[in-house]
Amino acid sequence: MSDAFSVIHNRKSVRSFTGQSVSRDALDKIIRAGMAAPTAVNKQPWAFIIVTGRKTLDALAAGLPYAKMLDKAGAAIIVCAIPGMAYDKSLELAVIDSTCSSENILLAAEALGLGAVWTAAYPYKDRMDVARKALNIPQDIIPLNVIPIGHPAGTDRPKDKYKPENIHWEKW
Ligand SMILES: Cc1cc2nc3c(=O)[nH]c(=O)nc-3n(C[C@H](O)[C@H](O)[C@H](O)COP(=O)(O)O)c2cc1C
Repeated sequence: MSDAFSVIHNRKSVRSFTGQSVSRDALDKIIRAGMAAPTAVNKQPWAFIIVTGRKTLDALAAGLPYAKMLDKAGAAIIVCAIPGMAYDKSLELAVIDSTCSSENILLAAEALGLGAVWTAAYPYKDRMDVARKALNIPQDIIPLNVIPIGHPAGTDRPKDKYKPENIHWEKW
């Protein structure tokens, strides 16, 4: 297991996979990391759908224009935001909380030597409809993203995004 800073700085969107399957133990660790995220008033307004079946992965790949890498992924996690469970039944808080969880999922995949990438469902109605149809997700639950996970083919690299001009130290 790598230290937190290496994992954070090495994380990158991985869109090129070998096609190998992902173990149940790895997926369990990744989901546990997702559930460890902070949420407003600790409401945990989410659900996670784990897909390993080739038929469903292919159906998602066919319907989602920017998720074609699913064809070689070993699995996908769909993070669902549930406004009815969020503080104040807030759509915004459900999405924010589920986004925190999604980042934990991406970091956990990196820590395990796997690759992952956030592909968008929310806020695009057509993409949410694709996920809803493939996975029987009801209208009051929001498929936030589809995260393909797999063994990296080794071509994707982290980007250096450090920009001092975006930092503002308060003067005292
Ligand atoms: C809200 C959101 C939506 C994204 N949607 C897609 C997507 O549909 N397909 C894709 O390949 N990458 C998608 N990405 C990944 C971004 O393109 C990627 O994070 C960005 O280019 C920075 O690269 P990095 O993740 O390697 O640091 C998305 C990321 C976020 C946060």
